[in-house]
Amino acid sequence: MPFRPVSLVSALALVVALGGCAQSSGMSGAGMTPDLFIPPAREPDPAVPPRAARPIQWVRDVHSHARPEIARVTHVALDLRADFQARSLSGTATLDVQGRAGATEVILDVRDLDVRAVRDAQGAALPFRLGPVDPLLGQSLTVDLPALVEGERRKVVVDYATRPGAAALQWLTPEQTAGGEKPYLFSQGQAILTRTWVPTQDSPGIRQTWEATITTPPGMNAVMSAELLKDEITPVAGGGFRWRFRMDNPVPPYLIAIAVGDVAFAPIGTRTGVWTEPSMLHAAEAEFVDVERMVEAAEGLYGPYLWGRYDLLILPPSFPFGGMENPRLTFATPTIIAGDRSLVSLVAHELAHSWSGNLVTNATWADFWLNEGFTVYFENRIMEAVYGRDRALQEQALGWRDLERTLASLPAADTRLKLDLDGRDPDEGLTDVAYEKGAFFLRTIERVVGRERFDAWLKGYFARNAFVPMTTEMFLADIRTHLIRGDQALEAQLAMEAWIYEPGLPSNAMAPTSDAFVPVDAAAQATFVNGAAPPRALWDGWNTQQRQRFLAWRPQGLQAGADWLSAAQLAALDAALDLSAEGNAEVRFAWLQIGLAHRYEPAAVSAEAFLLGMGRRKFVLPLFTTLWAEGDWGRALATRIYAEARPLYHPITSGSVDAVVGWKAE
Ligand code: BES
Ligand code: ZN
Repeated sequence: MPFRPVSLVSALALVVALGGCAQSSGMSGAGMTPDLFIPPAREPDPAVPPRAARPIQWVRDVHSHARPEIARVTHVALDLRADFQARSLSGTATLDVQGRAGATEVILDVRDLDVRAVRDAQGAALPFRLGPVDPLLGQSLTVDLPALVEGERRKVVVDYATRPGAAALQWLTPEQTAGGEKPYLFSQGQAILTRTWVPTQDSPGIRQTWEATITTPPGMNAVMSAELLKDEITPVAGGGFRWRFRMDNPVPPYLIAIAVGDVAFAPIGTRTGVWTEPSMLHAAEAEFVDVERMVEAAEGLYGPYLWGRYDLLILPPSFPFGGMENPRLTFATPTIIAGDRSLVSLVAHELAHSWSGNLVTNATWADFWLNEGFTVYFENRIMEAVYGRDRALQEQALGWRDLERTLASLPAADTRLKLDLDGRDPDEGLTDVAYEKGAFFLRTIERVVGRERFDAWLKGYFARNAFVPMTTEMFLADIRTHLIRGDQALEAQLAMEAWIYEPGLPSNAMAPTSDAFVPVDAAAQATFVNGAAPPRALWDGWNTQQRQRFLAWRPQGLQAGADWLSAAQLAALDAALDLSAEGNAEVRFAWLQIGLAHRYEPAAVSAEAFLLGMGRRKFVLPLFTTLWAEGDWGRALATRIYAEARPLYHPITSGSVDAVVGWKAE
């Protein structure tokens, strides 16, 4: 079942058709190398400070079976073949294992993997056993080893195959791609899904270097979150290729990522570029022209970019997230291609993770705010540097409003920055608390100590803790040592423990104000409360953030399920602003939330097209949730749309929606 073209996607196709597309990604028939422009390698900056030599402080991760304090994986070499008929990656993962002297086993995480054999470096079988199946955590894979010697690296070769339903992987049919001719595969590892395609110690606190050899069928290219070793690509019988990749910076397993499909590359700057399907390449290139400037701005703020290249991969529309910070190669949804660069803060966000998250990594998912809160803060600083303070403040104000609504809707315990995720899916921590409360916490510190001091501390924090797993408590120790330095008055003024360990917002939180939103709020008041005609002329002059603000307006104290607009008002809005045909995904989504909550029929038609056109969970899940709250009308519609849309969605998206609509396998 293909993703049905919607106005969003067809607007894009139009851009592409008009622009023409010179770059070809096809393989040169019987050629010995792929007929493909491959980005030049870029060695990491030589001026980079040496990696932190400090010993790792192991903290217990309730989402992994691994016991890294006994034996840990330090390097992974994958040798996998992508089989699109079987929907399986199969081959070997060769792990380097190091551990305590005398250790006689290493424990890995696996989920839905078919482990065929485990061998040592000489090819001799090693005994292994799989633990009980946990639907969330998968199984432990314990491999027996002859006693380890201090400092020795031992090789463990796991021979395995993934299953068609592996939760990290989505195997797309040709119809689910823009090109319509070749199938496509991509992975999404965060938070605990890498174990469904790599047998590994799947905890964010356990880092390893890695390399990979990937065998692909004819006409398809492989990309990964690592350096593509151009000179080591070799043809295989039947017309495919073996691709080689290498990542020399140690990374946690959730950052190992792959995509295989008909993708092509276009450079943006000397160390930046974009990969996507050929028909999308020109639109993507135009949308992301500012990426090189973003990298420069980020480096100017918090120190050198340590990963060599920074490229984007724009995926087919079923990609379940907005973006994913896979090192060297951010994965992103095509729904950020708006045609006017209005949604590029998502790129600033994923780029910022190259420091907050990929260099300094949350040690466990309970410390997730260290990844996302720091990243939202940093993202906004990049936006300010590249697009100015006004734009940055608008985005902060949108975030503040989202946060207020999130805080009102969550149980108090889940509004703390440090989470208790014992027995829970780490995805439950994926709320605006980690993102927006985390960012407003850092803005509060910035405001109190001044930007200059704050920036100096933050730059030092990244340098001191590069490649080190970070807990919330280590963060507190670092900021006390390097910024607060025993200043009791400052300590009291910051209220850090309240921000971290208590629900809601401490009293020193301050709402951002954006001058650009003053006329927007006035227009919203006039339109929604006083019954004025929709502000067509103003709307035309507004940017995307102002339009989002307008459509996010709600009456004070609105009850769940209550209507706040009349049918006539909805029709007038839709007619004046052409909302049901809106091409900007964020604006379209904001409108559909209103329309569906009022059972407005034209919005239902628009929602159906939207929901069949992309699978980004941030849009899909709230829309189905809204429909489900609208009685028989909404439930019938949701059931009908979901029956068609579900096969198009990534397991991450369908898994969340299943719970809302009570979906059960036939
Ligand atoms: N790392 C996250 C995505 C993620 C988090 C995936 C947790 C799985 C588990 C990524 O950086 C992110 O935050 N993406 C956001 C966009 C961002 C601009 C807020 C998204 O996908 O919406
Ligand atoms: Zn993020």
